[in-house]
Parts: sequence; structure tokens; C-alpha cells
Amino acid sequence: MGNIPDVIIHKHDVVIVGAGGAGLRAALEASKVVNTAVITQVFPTRSHTVSAQGGIAATLGNMEPDNWLWHMFDTVKGSDYLGDQDAIEFMCRMAPEIVIELEHMGMPFSRIENGKIFQRRFGGHTREFGKDAIQRTCAAADRTGHAMLHTLYEQCVKNQVIFYNEFFAIDLIMNEDHVVGVLAWDIVNGGFHIFHAKATMFATGGYGRCYKTTSNAHICTGDGLGITLRAGLPVEDLEFVQFHPTGIYGVGNLITEGARGEGGYLINKDGERFMKRYAPTVMDLASRDVVSRAIAEEIRNGRGCGPKGDYVLLKLDHIGANVINERLPGIWELTYVFAGIDCTKEPIPVVPTCHYCMGGIPTNYYAEVVVGNMEQPETPVKGFYAAGECACVSIHGANRLGSNSLLDIMVFGKVGGQKMAEFAESLPEHVPLPENPGKDGIERVIGLLNSTGKERMGPIWEELKESMDYNCSVFRTEETLVKQKAIINELWKRFQNIGIDDKSRVYNLDLVETLELENMLTYSKAIVEGALARTESRGAHYRDDYPKRDDVNWLKHTLAYLEEDGSIRLDYKPVRLKPLTVPPFEPKERVY
Ligand code: FUM
Repeated sequence: MGNIPDVIIHKHDVVIVGAGGAGLRAALEASKVVNTAVITQVFPTRSHTVSAQGGIAATLGNMEPDNWLWHMFDTVKGSDYLGDQDAIEFMCRMAPEIVIELEHMGMPFSRIENGKIFQRRFGGHTREFGKDAIQRTCAAADRTGHAMLHTLYEQCVKNQVIFYNEFFAIDLIMNEDHVVGVLAWDIVNGGFHIFHAKATMFATGGYGRCYKTTSNAHICTGDGLGITLRAGLPVEDLEFVQFHPTGIYGVGNLITEGARGEGGYLINKDGERFMKRYAPTVMDLASRDVVSRAIAEEIRNGRGCGPKGDYVLLKLDHIGANVINERLPGIWELTYVFAGIDCTKEPIPVVPTCHYCMGGIPTNYYAEVVVGNMEQPETPVKGFYAAGECACVSIHGANRLGSNSLLDIMVFGKVGGQKMAEFAESLPEHVPLPENPGKDGIERVIGLLNSTGKERMGPIWEELKESMDYNCSVFRTEETLVKQKAIINELWKRFQNIGIDDKSRVYNLDLVETLELENMLTYSKAIVEGALARTESRGAHYRDDYPKRDDVNWLKHTLAYLEEDGSIRLDYKPVRLKPLTVPPFEPKERVY
């Protein structure tokens, strides 16, 4: 490999990339049986799960009677029927046991008077198949993700999981059709490391950082998707990007749906509770796509607030300082710090903010990465697993219900950990590394360190984010998407002439962010191509020029492949409409 420096090789049974909730839950499970390592870009408890606020859905029935079938119904309907119903049933049935397990690990949930776990209302969660909103979301105040991540990290340390903190994954390593590990860059010291594994999992999080207004952490750059595409494997349903209705105006930070669950509501510049016009039954607790579009409609029809009319207000002051202090302390702090507002006294200016990515690496409900299409049944990719936001199981379909994300990461993290341990045990030896493992990735990084190109990461990233906000967010049309495709192609060309100023090896964030940008440009093409091809509106994908859902032509999942010339090829696969044990729910018009 010529001028390529030494590469350090590590060998583990199971290697997990990402230390958020899914990665840690998987590590906890796998480490009960086999030698397990986690590679993470940031210290584990700084992973993005730490910022999940409102809670985790589970039909514990602590506040009122509940039933997993109602939860399943809500999730199928919330997904706008694009969710795979076998996986949804699997998740909803497992939810209560998953939450009780967390409780037994010591997760500090909020409590009600009888000592049971507190549950709150969240958008789209109902009793008796849509009759009324239900209290199903189990919460640790408004810091549920924080409590969960710390609990899991402690358990992993107890189980002697090996952590490689501050390592950046560059490429998958495959031997023929078998995933045998991952190439990574040591951010702290510089240098290449190969993690050779019997089973490799991506739990690398979401891809919301390709938008400017976002609740996502700086690390949510979708690196797992860029890597998967480069490995010749598909990504699924990337066009479905969720905008959470209540991001703080100007900065995008999340104001939990729990705030509306506790009785908060939205008003326009006339002080009107406009949600009654869009969702007369559940109002502010309609599903997120519905509320986000309602806010955007109010703004574009001149009923927004402020000098530019470009936000609406979330009123919380009427619910009382004691409720805010007890149930929403993090929200008080966030609004105080980022908007300079005391939300016990004043309403909060909010706008939809890019929050969650329904698409990801295709998996089945065992967290095995799968390939297949309309003609070919799905088959697992040997040795490769994915869980959490980077995966598309698909339980969220076209739109995720709030508090189903923490549930998703716990259920499929756990099952994935078990499956990886079983798989690793079934192999007598590691499948060998190929000749020159990681060669392409190593050469790309060396190329950047030696680069003399005139383009810089910052301006390209800025233009990508701004244009994605403008052309491919809550509303899309053929015109905006064609425009966005041209913009990304142009940015891609400019990226071929990229250079970095920092040539050092130690803590070279110029290098890491340039690698992140390459991943973002790669999968942003897939978001836009998928959205352009899908001539219907479904869930979070709303085409102004095709405002109706079209089940005849589009009740199918999009698959995107990266071609050698850098273009995207689309393919499709069927939605699994058959649940495990109950009859399928046929698509119906949504009536929120
Ligand atoms: O609103 C929220 O607290 C977000 C929760 C979620 O996305 O599940």
C-alpha cells in the first residue's frame, strides 16, 4: 500500500459502532456471552440519546388501562401505513418488559403516588384505536434519554464492555459478501485502526445535520449511511425526514412534545388555537407531521408571529410553575438559555425543526441488515447488524410517533445484541480480513491530509444545510427537488477539489468534519432522489404537487444504491403488511 502508515488491528467477537442507546443496549446484551467492543466518536454519555426528552412508549397501563394492540394500531397508522407490521407488533409487545428491565437496572423514572412509573400523553398515542389521547409515555421528567444513557453505560462498564472512545469510523471491511469489521481513525492520537469482528453493528444515529434548523447534535451526520452506501449496500426510505413541530425559533433545540402532553398548546399571531382547524379531536397532540405542516401553513398564510411572521407560540404559562418545575425542568432551562424566556410567564417562539430520520440501513426485526427488492426476498448480509436511528426496521414507516424512538433503540438494540452473540458463537473462527484491508478508506484520509485543493468544508456544508432547509423540508415539489438535486451535484463536484488546512494528526477536526461532509453529500443525494421519485404525500414526505397518499403506486419502501459514478440508483421493496399474529390493518384515510 505504498506510503501508508502502520495500522493497528484489534480483534473482538462483536464490534458495535456508536454508543447511544441502541449501541449500549446491544453491547450490554452481547457482552453477557461474547467479547464485545464499542467504538464511539464521543464519550458514550455524550451520545445524542442523552438529549431525548419526553419519554419511552410502553403499554404499562399505570395511569389508565392500555393495550399493546392499541399501541400497534397507533404506530401503524402514525407510519401512514409504510411501517412493517411484523416489526411493529414485535416492538409494541416487547415494550412493557423493556421498560421494566430499565427500571430494574436503576433508571430513575418519575413516579406517581403509588410508586409506579409516571406516564404522559404524547402525539398520536390513543386508547381504543383512536378514541382519545392516552398516557402511555414513560418519563424521567424531561430528561428520559439522559437517565437511560447513564443507566446503560454503568451496566456496560459492569459487564466489562471495551470502549474505544473518540474513534471515527471510516469504512466497512468486507471479505467477499461477509462484513468482517470496520476501519476507524483515532481522533485523539491520529492513526488508523482496524476492528476485526465476527459480527459488526452500526448504531451510528441519525442524519439530521444535513439540515440547518435541527434538534440533532453535531455528531448526527449520518456517517453509518455514507459508509453503507460506499460498501455497495442499500439505504432505505431516506426521503422520510421528520420535522418536530416545536424547535426553539432561531436555534432549533427541541421543546419536548411532553410540554403539549402536560397541557401546553400552540397559538398563532391572533392568539388562536389553530390546531382545532387541522386536528379537531386530538388538536396539539396530533402526530408530528400533521402539527408541523399546520405550523408551516399558518406561517405561509401570514398568521405567524413576530416582526417577520415566521414562528408560532407555544403557551405553557397556564399549566403552572410547579408542573413545569417537576415535569419539565429541562425545558425551562433550555428556553431560558436559548430564547431568554421564562416559560412559566411567557410563551415560547417555535418552528418545526429537523428531528428524526425514519430512513436508514435496512434491517429485519432481528437487527440483521438485509438486502432484497420487489422480486428478491430479503436475505441478511452476513455479519452485519444495525439498530437505532441509523437503521430502518421499518417500524416508523413514513412518520414516527413521539416516544417510539427510545423504545425502538431499546428493543432492537437488545435483540441485535442477542443475535450478534449467537452468530459470533456459531463461528469457530473470525472470517479472515481481506488483502489490504481498509485500503480505500486509508487512501482517502491520506489524500485529505496531503490535499492542496482550493475548496473548504465549511462553505460547502453551509450551502448544503441551507438549501436542504429551503428545498427539501416540510413541503417539497418537483421544482424544489430538481433544484436541490442540481445544488448537491454542484457541491459534490466542488468536494472533489477539497483541501484541509490542518495537516496534523492529533484532534484534527478539520479532517473529521470533511469526512462527515463527504458522508452527508452522499446520503443527501439519496434523500432528494427518493423524494423526487415518490410522487405522493405520505407521513413526513409532503409533496405540494402530489398532496394525496397513493397506495396503488407507492405502498413500497424506497431503496437507494450509490453507483460508481457517484449517482444514485433507486429500487423498491414491498411493505410487510402482515403482522406476526393479528390480521393486517388495511390502509385508510387518516382522520386526525
Ligand atoms: O418531544 C420529544 O420529547 C421527543 C421525543 C421523541 O422524539 O421521541
